[in-house]
Amino acid sequence: MTDSPPDLRGRRILLGVCGGIAAYKAADLSRRLIEAGADVQVVMTDNAARFVGAATFQALTGKPVRDSLWDAQAESHMGHIELARWADLILVAPASANTLARLAHGLADDLLATLVLASDRPLAVAPAMNRLMWNAPATQDNLATLRARGVRVLGPGAGFQACGETGEGRMREPSDLRDDVAGLLGPHGPLAGRHAVVTAGPTREPIDPVRFITNRSSGKQGYALARALAQLGARVSLISGPTQLAVPPGCVRIEVETAAQMCAAALDAAASAELFVGTAAVADYRVQDVATDKIKKTGTTMQLALVRNDDILVRVRAARPDLFMVGFAAETENLEAHARDKLARKQLNLIAANRVGPGRAFDVDDNQLSVYWAGGQRELASAPKDVLARELALLIAEHFVTGP
Ligand code: C5P
Repeated sequence: MTDSPPDLRGRRILLGVCGGIAAYKAADLSRRLIEAGADVQVVMTDNAARFVGAATFQALTGKPVRDSLWDAQAESHMGHIELARWADLILVAPASANTLARLAHGLADDLLATLVLASDRPLAVAPAMNRLMWNAPATQDNLATLRARGVRVLGPGAGFQACGETGEGRMREPSDLRDDVAGLLGPHGPLAGRHAVVTAGPTREPIDPVRFITNRSSGKQGYALARALAQLGARVSLISGPTQLAVPPGCVRIEVETAAQMCAAALDAAASAELFVGTAAVADYRVQDVATDKIKKTGTTMQLALVRNDDILVRVRAARPDLFMVGFAAETENLEAHARDKLARKQLNLIAANRVGPGRAFDVDDNQLSVYWAGGQRELASAPKDVLARELALLIAEHFVTGP
């Protein structure tokens, strides 16, 4: 799956870059922040300029780099005190041992340290240094001081270091830092502060202690949608059947196996939700009598009696008539007719329908969707599931905000 950035549109980030080999990764970080829509102003220390050129950051951010307290032209454009207040967040990445020490002691001996001192905005640091410098008592004391003041310390990670050693002190990866920034800035977007529940993945219906009935759902669409809703500001409860996927940022996962467990978790989470999206491929039937011991092979045929599972969307709708609800319909034929029938029968606000069959929709990365609602429809063209999820999340937010 491609990396889908959080929504940082309109957020102002002052990126402080210190001297260290990880300074080259700060160029990638600035690009990722810009891609996510942020407005980025880079401030470099003198030592940073020894590792990476200001022209690199200027080309990536579209803004001249600030590096001096004594640059009369830059100061007349936006003075350092103004710059300190301009930012929504100051992120120092990489943060060298030297700059951490300067910040811990309140020095104001260059532009970056002065800005930090003159700002009341949240401050985050992403340390990067040799493992011995990281573990040095002086560095750890400085970090403790900064933490106690509310400074967020992001990383570092462990692994191979540019100096040839292996250990703690690697700067956190740029894409992770970008997601951290989104998390620190808090909910933003049309769904800010809203609680959304998403069901995702397959269910497993046990036959005996070692066997179960399941389906080909990978959970990718549901996870991508949960991530996209979180990026629009929602607090997401992701009720998930068994998958191989990582929990997306901004989501809390509730793991379940059977349809009955998913239904109970959905009813529980829906009680405090404002938005409910059922992407899960829920088993329609479960085994009537689950064997307590492994079933032995005896005859040439065997029969399993199945009983119908509750429809989760129907149960949630009955409990919460006011909830904004979105369902999915996977169909092999008569897409619109079947989808509209489900929209009405399950009393949904929106339904996203896709054609299924060999190589389509299930367990593949690309998908396409037709979205229907009472009196309207929108086609979302074939695209990777995360791109499609973003478009669907925006459409859901649009309908949710304007009301049914
Ligand atoms: O009726 P059908 O299974 O085709 O409907 C699909 C939609 O209903 C999906 O949104 C799915 O998550 C949801 N569903 C459900 N509970 C079930 C079966 C399906 O919530 N037991």
